[in-house]
Amino acid sequence: MFDSIPDALKVLQSRLKEHRDSGNMELQNGDHGYASSPSNIALIKYWGKEDKLLQIPLNNSLSLTLGGFRTHTQVRVLGRFLPHGHETSARPFSHKFALKNEDGIEIENIISDKMIKFLDAILFPFAPEISLSVQSQNFFPTGCGIASSASGYAALVGAIADLLQIKRIFNREEQHYWITQWARLGSGSATRSGMLGDDDLFVCWERILENGEVKLTTTEKIKHHPLWDRNLCHWVVVLDKTPKEVSSSQGHLLSKNTPLQIVRLAQIQQSYQTLKKAIEEFNFSVVAQLSEQDAFAMHAVMQSSQPAARYLTTPVAQFISHFVSFRNRNNLNCFWTLDAGPNVHLVALKNAESSVEHFLDDYMGLENSAPINIYKNKFQQNCLLLGRS
Ligand code: PMV
Repeated sequence: MFDSIPDALKVLQSRLKEHRDSGNMELQNGDHGYASSPSNIALIKYWGKEDKLLQIPLNNSLSLTLGGFRTHTQVRVLGRFLPHGHETSARPFSHKFALKNEDGIEIENIISDKMIKFLDAILFPFAPEISLSVQSQNFFPTGCGIASSASGYAALVGAIADLLQIKRIFNREEQHYWITQWARLGSGSATRSGMLGDDDLFVCWERILENGEVKLTTTEKIKHHPLWDRNLCHWVVVLDKTPKEVSSSQGHLLSKNTPLQIVRLAQIQQSYQTLKKAIEEFNFSVVAQLSEQDAFAMHAVMQSSQPAARYLTTPVAQFISHFVSFRNRNNLNCFWTLDAGPNVHLVALKNAESSVEHFLDDYMGLENSAPINIYKNKFQQNCLLLGRS
């Protein structure tokens, strides 16, 4: 699963090994690292992989960073570095994982095979004898429809970066590459949660063509107009808590067998470029229109896959229809988007905030609507934070 990693990442991994070999990196039982990472919501979605091993997406994607919905992670060393010449590739301990919800209650304590392989892939080249105990906590309500894999993998990689003190070894550009590329290999959308700057409000994940082939991807912030800052509101509206029948990793693969994916991909690059420009120029209506269009396009692909991944359920469709009529009637600066779950994300400018909240209050009071929960995001610290400051 993690056999194929980008060459530039291998170079950075061997620099870590040199650092250890020269006696400049010591890891002892109990040493720890910490990071917290924001989640993100894609406006142009990543759906479908060109290369499963290298985790290369079929299209460029672009997201809004959700600084108020974060995962905090601490990694603690189990074992220790052995003296030079006595290194061994046998790990005396195994990796461990525990996840808490925002109330501090443990909701998971079994480590997945995928995470074990992921940790091994990062550590093996230079720290084969140590294992990690990973403790994570999601600071957003469980089941609120925020993908915890994006903030989760970014915070995990960040905590390992803090443990290894990569700031002392790599320059800022290298740190950025090491973190975003490792996070991407854990979960594609996690790469957009691994940014180091607090002004990284909009982030793009792009495929880089080399001799006509895509072997590389980059993750960068998008230049945005200053009027976006402190002018955005975001809510997650949870309409359906039934567990997903199709996971996003299955869904990426299934998207290959529907012709609608070809239709979606044929125009996506143009939408992507137009969206980038609209973000730079603060053109809210274009951002709204393209975001809704791509959400529909991705869900059309999902619904026509075999088997179908149906996240656009009846309560979701009804909600969207009410929201859009209300928005259009009142000419408001707000739009919806939907990821791989039956929970709608609403994004608005401040001048539409109170109208959207009235709409949500009224919707909750509607007789025939399913019970819903609403979570409001506070856009704070839109970056990965390394260490406890
Ligand atoms: O990162 P993954 O493999 O869980 O895929 C995420 C896919 C979407 O959330 C639906 C879209 C996106 O770009 O985040």
